[in-house]
Amino acid sequence: MTGPVAAIVVAAGRGERAGGGMPKQYRPIAGEPMIRPTLRAFLDHPRIDLVQPVIGSADQDDYAAATAGLIRLQAPVAGGATRQASVRAGLEALAAAAPGLVLIHDAARPFLTPALIDRAIGAGRASGAAVPGVAIADTVKALDADGRVAETLDRNRLRVVQTPQVFAYDLIIAAHRRAAAAGLDSFTDDAALAEWAGHPVSVFDGEAGNIKVTTNEDFTRAELMHLANLSDVRTGNGFDVHAFVEGDHVMLGGVRIAHSRGVTGHSDADVALHALVDAILGALADGDIGSHFPPSDPQWKGASSDRFLAFACERVRQRRGAIAHLDVTVVCEAPRVSPHRDAMRERIAAIAGIAVERVGVKATTSEKLGFTGRSEGIVAMATATVRLPWRAA
Ligand code: CTP
Ligand code: MG
Repeated sequence: MTGPVAAIVVAAGRGERAGGGMPKQYRPIAGEPMIRPTLRAFLDHPRIDLVQPVIGSADQDDYAAATAGLIRLQAPVAGGATRQASVRAGLEALAAAAPGLVLIHDAARPFLTPALIDRAIGAGRASGAAVPGVAIADTVKALDADGRVAETLDRNRLRVVQTPQVFAYDLIIAAHRRAAAAGLDSFTDDAALAEWAGHPVSVFDGEAGNIKVTTNEDFTRAELMHLANLSDVRTGNGFDVHAFVEGDHVMLGGVRIAHSRGVTGHSDADVALHALVDAILGALADGDIGSHFPPSDPQWKGASSDRFLAFACERVRQRRGAIAHLDVTVVCEAPRVSPHRDAMRERIAAIAGIAVERVGVKATTSEKLGFTGRSEGIVAMATATVRLPWRAA
């Protein structure tokens, strides 16, 4: 089995059982269209050379939006009316690349792990046709036409079968072409088609977490599974001070507030955003605002601080994490912050890409004590709560 290792991700279904007004693979789980983490699992895997998506011909805009920024993807090909036809379209599209091995996977299974892909490749190389299977804990009964129990099956012989299913490319494309030529179009998985063509199919260990998102309830389950994966919860704090100077406004939390003084400092001197950036970087143990945006670098002079916050939030996303909460306290005698509190919360939430309910803004005076009390400067303190995948170091 020489030749590259390819993965086909079939995503041309309509998602009728899930409902929701759009094909389920484009509905978000944890803020990302479901197909995106599925594709990323293959793109990020060092042993996968080619990733071939198969999509509905009406879904091109949804697909483009869902895959923005992903690199190394083959151009998508149009699927067919059945899953079998969609897989065949993907196989035909790969013919020129002459893969040795091909993994065939449902876009609707976004929780596959690198270890599962490794097992699939190993089993595929060993047997030429293999599927992931999970043992059944419950007793399973077969029914008769009246819905009565006809038989209790021996569950030790049964497996629930998932994807990615893996095949020698030549074997599975030949089987697909034969089935299509014979007018058979309702095989629900590729193993059934390989069995029909007379090939023995082996089974390797699947994963209970590798669910196929099928119904609307599965979306709730998937959200919970995603959160359970993000169980490495971290808290960071940030602190910033800027001095008042002559001027007519201050920037606070991304909002311009008219004031009898201005603030001096690197960039636009938004203490609230600067403290939040340090809080997020602190939660990631990823340096501080000065190490990423040195004050000595002229390009940050007068820069709008929303860029710094967007950068810190992107660092969280690069770690596949999520921001659970941002909270900031501003200390000054004036200007009064409370009239601007909701505008600041909304602005911070918009920059961070989180719900406004996850942003707290508070303000206090320091009772005329100290430098804030004498209105020499303004202080902000912030806390960020960040969730990272458990595997993160
Ligand atoms: N699929 C496909 N082409 C089809 C039908 C299904 O590429 N004509 C894909 C789906 O997009 C999905 C996978 O096959 O990733 C498994 O199918 P299923 O879970 O049944 O998805 P849908 O067919 O979209 O859902 P439903 O059956 O509820 O309509
Ligand atoms: Mg279907």
